[in-house]
Amino acid sequence: MRRFFIRSFARATPKKGARTIKSSIVPFPVTVTVGAIGASIVAYYMLDAKAGIHEYVFCPLIRAFTDAENGHKLGIKLMSLGISPKLRRESEEREREFDALLGVDVFGTHLKSPIGLAAGLDKEGIAIDSLFDTGFSYVEIGSVTPEPQPGNPQPRFFRLPRDDAVINRYGFNSSGHLSVLLNLKARFQEWMSHENNAKRPGRLLAVNLGKNKNGDEVQDYVTGVRRFAHYADVLVVNVSSPNTPGLRDLQSESKLTDLLKAVVKERNAQGKNSCGKQPPVLVKVAPDLTEPEIESIANSAKQSKVDGIIISNTTIQRPSNLLTTDISLINQAGGLSGKPLKPLSLQALRTLRKHTKDSNLVLVGCGGISSGKDALEFGKAGASFIELYTAFAYKGPGLPAKIRDELTALLRKEGKTWQQIIGEDDK
Ligand SMILES: Cc1cc2nc3c(=O)[nH]c(=O)nc-3n(C[C@H](O)[C@H](O)[C@H](O)COP(=O)(O)O)c2cc1C
Ligand SMILES: *[C@@H]1O[C@H](CO)[C@@H](O)[C@H](O)[C@H]1NC(C)=O
Ligand SMILES: *[C@@H]1O[C@H](CO)[C@@H](O)[C@H](O)[C@H]1NC(C)=O
Ligand SMILES: *[C@@H]1O[C@H](CO)[C@@H](O)[C@H](O)[C@H]1NC(C)=O
Repeated sequence: MRRFFIRSFARATPKKGARTIKSSIVPFPVTVTVGAIGASIVAYYMLDAKAGIHEYVFCPLIRAFTDAENGHKLGIKLMSLGISPKLRRESEEREREFDALLGVDVFGTHLKSPIGLAAGLDKEGIAIDSLFDTGFSYVEIGSVTPEPQPGNPQPRFFRLPRDDAVINRYGFNSSGHLSVLLNLKARFQEWMSHENNAKRPGRLLAVNLGKNKNGDEVQDYVTGVRRFAHYADVLVVNVSSPNTPGLRDLQSESKLTDLLKAVVKERNAQGKNSCGKQPPVLVKVAPDLTEPEIESIANSAKQSKVDGIIISNTTIQRPSNLLTTDISLINQAGGLSGKPLKPLSLQALRTLRKHTKDSNLVLVGCGGISSGKDALEFGKAGASFIELYTAFAYKGPGLPAKIRDELTALLRKEGKTWQQIIGEDDK
């Protein structure tokens, strides 16, 4: 398939070849026809999420010509304009198999698959539909802070391609609640009938709430809940940023419990949203926690009756086995994400599972996931579903489909469904 594409591409674009054809024996309309067919084939592949061209051509091109932040901006801009590939429906039989193997019941919704997008890619909620179209069942936008804020000075985003990793210290740059609300409302009005805020059956839209640099540690999140409860299927509070002064202290148990209680209380006060539901509240935590700290978070989560925990955010550690040798790059301040994060986030998930098994808290796995095999590991360790960011930035919009296919094959081989393997390592 790929070879076929490259041939068509070559025929459609190089000007020199076209000119020789035109000036020799082939009549003009034939060149135009061949060109048009070639261009249609290019467009076909560009718009197909499963085509390898994104992973092997477009993403490397973007990386070659942009720094990390501009690459991120360009990617999200294209997606916001709808210039992005879509995952096609497969045969009815295949779709039924996907649903039987990958479906997961969570928060009163039957999620189509356990594959989600983590916060930070679409901070403003401008590319939600394009992101769902690539195959994600769950899309988390944000973090969004109450007031707009610029974040840290640039440069603040660095690629470590040899490690399939990035380091970022964006520091919650955000256009603020009101701007993001406008984006969500604009989208809201386009659709009349729907069963949730994702506007699609079997999918969920989450909003990750942040805090302003000089904002109030409780009130900023409570305000976020009040403003977004009607426009989100899931609310996430971001309580573990080492870059935002003061946030780390929050992890002391009673302060965290009070914060989460205030958030849950505000969520309950909002009543049901237009879909007849109340959004569950998730807490997102860092992987750099000791076991007593994780236990303490589990206690706070249970006492405050939040609905689940996302584990994890980026790490401030620099694992010693990084392949990148540029010390000035490795030593950039910020959170590391991608492949090297996986052992840390997976271990944190296992510890958290140990301390939440006796509750019905939903655990969401995140950190270094890039394949069906990774997803399955997180599922077996206790994650009801997973989310990812860095691998999507490297591999492009074909990734959700690739993970779906790999996961389907693995589950078929084991003769189990996703729902059955959740927490299997520690039953
Ligand atoms: C550039 C960048 C920006 C991020 N911004 C946010 C954010 O605003 N809020 C948040 O909760 N997590 C943010 N994250 C963390 C991701 O959501 C995710 O937890 C982390 O990257 C680990 O997953 P991964 O290894 O699949 O990327 C960001 C990550 C990256 C790389
Ligand atoms: C919070 O937001 C910051 C800044 O965008 C981001 O880097 C970090 O990963 C987020 N953490 C959580 C827990 O949401
Ligand atoms: C935050 O930074 C990202 C990457 O440059 C950009 O896409 C986004 O628009 C920024 N948001 C704000 C409000 O600065
Ligand atoms: C996650 O941690 C990174 C650094 O490790 C930080 O930049 C970010 O703000 C944190 N966000 C959350 C939600 O914890």
